Amino acid sequence: GSSGEPSDAHERVVFRHDHATGLKAIVAIHSTVLGRALGGTRFYPYGDEHEALADVLRLSRGMTYKAAAAGLPYGGGKAVIIGDPATTKTPELLQAYGSLVESLGGDYVTGGDVGTTADDLDIIGTTTSYVATRTAAAGGTGDTAPLTALGVLHSMRAAAMHAWGEPSLSGRRVGVEGLGKVGRRLVGLLLDEGATVIGCDPSPEARALARGLHPKLALAERVIDEEVDIYGPCAMGGTVTSASAEVIRARIVCGAANNQLLDAPAGDVLQSRGIIWVPDYVANAGGLVQGVGELEGRPTDDVQRDVEAIFDTVDQILRVSSDQSITPGSAADRVVRARIAAATSSAD
Ligand code: NAI
Repeated sequence: GSSGEPSDAHERVVFRHDHATGLKAIVAIHSTVLGRALGGTRFYPYGDEHEALADVLRLSRGMTYKAAAAGLPYGGGKAVIIGDPATTKTPELLQAYGSLVESLGGDYVTGGDVGTTADDLDIIGTTTSYVATRTAAAGGTGDTAPLTALGVLHSMRAAAMHAWGEPSLSGRRVGVEGLGKVGRRLVGLLLDEGATVIGCDPSPEARALARGLHPKLALAERVIDEEVDIYGPCAMGGTVTSASAEVIRARIVCGAANNQLLDAPAGDVLQSRGIIWVPDYVANAGGLVQGVGELEGRPTDDVQRDVEAIFDTVDQILRVSSDQSITPGSAADRVVRARIAAATSSAD
């Protein structure tokens, strides 16, 4: 759009069905107002193309906000590959996908997400140069989960300062929903901080892996309505609804999952119950900060410091939220819109 506001209209959406490899993919470029679009590729068994399209449109819009909130001169994009990664992922399909990314000429730079790994990115990288966070062997900085988890930890610490007057998580009970790449790392960081951690995951493999790494982790069927101080959604989005927000017993909701709130009313319910929500795209920006650091060739220590500085962004947003009596979601959106508007007017 020309207004400088990140509207719901996307700049470009590309569908590709490659019969030879079975690739069915959608790339959505939401905004390049601040710079070329960055965002990972999700490989997921969507029920149909409408579901995949809805997801990629929402996720790519979130990336625009995520980059702007992290103060990065990049836009938002995202891609989805439709299919079960366990059965349909082949090197040929990933290479066909890489060609699709290459054909966009660098307006979109991809990375990993649910269902894709750094190893997959190495294969994608054989047919496109517009890829970040490949393995170290392929010249990348590798899996983004560790730094994503670190950013979530620091977001929790900032929220703890607002909730309880100090950032320490020692002695707090934290429920981690989803023990995948990010969740299981977050569990380790939280245990190191002296927190008590309860985790849940429907996958027996994920539970076994997390418990093997962290024997102190307690397991539960679900954590969203458990008696915890912090609820950390680290699986799929949409778990916080107007109904579930009524039964959350945590004081803080903060995690890595994208699009945690099903809709705005869910955020209003959290706010009215005095529950602090850390906007997901702020808390989970660590992986994006890593990808950008890699593209710009920045030293690892600097990148880690930038991820730790997510603490300050969360602190600023929660201050705006309490000073102006608006939800943290509205406060974050306000900060982001101001940054994008400033960038647009300076470009005019
Ligand atoms: P993953 O695929 O490695 O892990 C997700 C885990 O959630 C799996 O173990 C799965 O079994 C579990 N799960 C599925 N449904 C569940 C449910 N109802 N309750 C509890 N667990 C459930 O994905 P990853 O990379 O750990 O990402 C997790 C979330 O964080 C996703 O929403 C992703 O978009 C987001 N994220 C990830 C980043 C990264 O760098 N990996 C960066 C930013 C966001």
